[in-house]
Amino acid sequence: MANSPSSKPPRGDIPLFKVALPPPELLMPRLQSVLYSGQISEGEPVAAFERGFGDLVGNPHCLSFYSGTAALHIALLLAGVAAGDEVISTAMTAEPTNQAILHAGATPRWADVDPSNGNLSAETVAAAITPRTRAILVVHYGGIPAPIAGINAVAARHGIPVIEDAAHALGARYDGRVLGSHSAFVMFSLQAIKHMTTVDGGMLTCADPALLPKGRRLRWFGIDRHAPRTEVDVSEIGFKYHMNNVNATIGLAQLEVIQPLLDRHCANGRSLDAALAGVSGLEICRFEDRAAPSYWFYTVLCDDPEGMSKHLAAHGIASSKAHKRNDLHSVFASSRRDLPGLDRFYARMLHLPCGWWVDDASREYMVEVLQRGW
Ligand SMILES: Cc1ncc(COP(=O)(O)O)c(C=O)c1O
Repeated sequence: MANSPSSKPPRGDIPLFKVALPPPELLMPRLQSVLYSGQISEGEPVAAFERGFGDLVGNPHCLSFYSGTAALHIALLLAGVAAGDEVISTAMTAEPTNQAILHAGATPRWADVDPSNGNLSAETVAAAITPRTRAILVVHYGGIPAPIAGINAVAARHGIPVIEDAAHALGARYDGRVLGSHSAFVMFSLQAIKHMTTVDGGMLTCADPALLPKGRRLRWFGIDRHAPRTEVDVSEIGFKYHMNNVNATIGLAQLEVIQPLLDRHCANGRSLDAALAGVSGLEICRFEDRAAPSYWFYTVLCDDPEGMSKHLAAHGIASSKAHKRNDLHSVFASSRRDLPGLDRFYARMLHLPCGWWVDDASREYMVEVLQRGW
């Protein structure tokens, strides 16, 4: 057929994820310098990276960690979560979201997701509140902002803090502002395949700067790093969760190059939203007008995601469900409950490539392949 898509994309196979590191000429001299500086643990590069990251997400109250999971654990502790508490959460996420709740000694209580995008809603969160609810953990799944204004309004009525898990959503906007300052706490992951990586790392922004000293103590054995070591009293359980100067040096270089990459994720996602809206057999995700996703990957909904995935693979385009719904794991067995919205979303969703590595020709090819049906 004359207008049939070729079996291979224009520039080789299109992966679902790709590691983005700054160009070697920018990164390597700085890495060499920090590695042999004699100061590779937490020091000024970490503080500088926190300031720079705070600028990127519009919140100066920023703490770095060695992982997003560690950042979530400390967020839960700063929110007052303790053994025996419940944290409202979603099962449609990566496991660390909910493992962090277990780390804090609490139990996830699933709120159902909106089957049109996989995110929690204000209604499902409100329905899940119990007298034991101590925090609400909201994931912006795949980079689509959850309805945080409504969720924060519910939370405020009950005096419960909201923690956003923005691991998939660096650069996404809500009410015109990048995520990072809409809730009591916002966590970002800097793990290998996220929008921005420091190889591994995590960031936590806090609405209340008074919590920062405690966060700094908890991430380093319960000790204030600036106090004379023999004079401090450790009065709480602390962790080895801090970021080091090597990861922070990568992060500082990333901050110089990341914005065009984030912009490319967003532009690709918006183009796919427009181009796929009318494709038969496929639904695009719906979200609030006030939300502007940063499309870590591109989520589509259809009745035969397996068939669609095979069709895409035959044309060199990677796709996958990426995550197993967490309520199926035995470690979360005590949280099980009916989640009809999640049943529908999980059965129908598939994630497609959307990142900075997808150029215009590849994106148009993806659309063409999907227009052909599967
Ligand atoms: C939704 C979500 N939350 C939390 C995390 C944990 O982040 P990290 O791998 O940096 O610990 C990840 C990624 O792994 C994630 O995808």
